Amino acid sequence: MIVRRNFLRLAAGFLFASLSTTSYAVGVEPMLRMKTVTYRPRLPNWPDGLRLRLVLLADFHACDPWMSAARIASIAEKANSLQGDMVLLLGDFLSGMRLCTGHVPPEDWAAALSGLSAPLGVHAILGNHDWADDHEAMARGKGPLLAQRALEGIGVPVYDNRAVSFEKDGHRFWLAGLGDQIGPLRPMDDLPGTLAQVSDDAPVILMAHEPDIFPGVPARVAITLSGHTHGGQIRLFGRSPFVPSRFGSRYIRGHIIEGGRHLIVSAGLGMSGIPVRFGAPPEIVVVELGGDAAA
Ligand SMILES: [Fe+2]
Repeated sequence: MIVRRNFLRLAAGFLFASLSTTSYAVGVEPMLRMKTVTYRPRLPNWPDGLRLRLVLLADFHACDPWMSAARIASIAEKANSLQGDMVLLLGDFLSGMRLCTGHVPPEDWAAALSGLSAPLGVHAILGNHDWADDHEAMARGKGPLLAQRALEGIGVPVYDNRAVSFEKDGHRFWLAGLGDQIGPLRPMDDLPGTLAQVSDDAPVILMAHEPDIFPGVPARVAITLSGHTHGGQIRLFGRSPFVPSRFGSRYIRGHIIEGGRHLIVSAGLGMSGIPVRFGAPPEIVVVELGGDAAA
């Protein structure tokens, strides 16, 4: 009798722990534990006197109830409060997750993002899910993509292998954005063609949805900004069972310096595959360039 009672207690405890962990990973961490992470990289050859504050939003994966239009609007409000000079949207607006209660139409998530504002504007690239989960574009084998039309409809330019120059504090700089590296019909990125548009020595900030491009990015680029990995989305004992990168965990998230070249990877905001985040909370990333401190 005592053995049976102990077994039932143990089973109940195990069940409670399992349910608690599951509800944390499904409901609490992905929905309630959003962080703001700030990086202050000290970049070689960055012009003295050019201070630039960038707010990065990556991997929304809009779908109810995990990333509703209302939640996207509240993230936009938070992003505005961070007072960036620019807001950069790093792709994967769409979601193909089956474990959703509803689809968020592109015009709805775009309307939620239309509240974003920054003195030097809001700028976007697209990700692999903006192709893979746009079934009409996939069937046609070409764009324009739903996500691109939705963003352009709210006045947000989409950088598809394009570089544009800006000026701040009396200094020029370039913002460049790549087409998606996966496609998934075929790779859409053209790094040489994008950098060929850079017509002077001013620093280049490169938006690339997947960080896998980084080993091939020349030192001419001051910094590369990526998302896509979700920080692994699930981390157990310091490891992620699956990272969508051919380099494994090398570019999973954070500030990476290789050969004097700088990469920042956001853990993103939403989820793909399964509606779980564990040990990889959603984040808004702030990048401060040209300040005094290094991070
Ligand atoms: Fe992605």
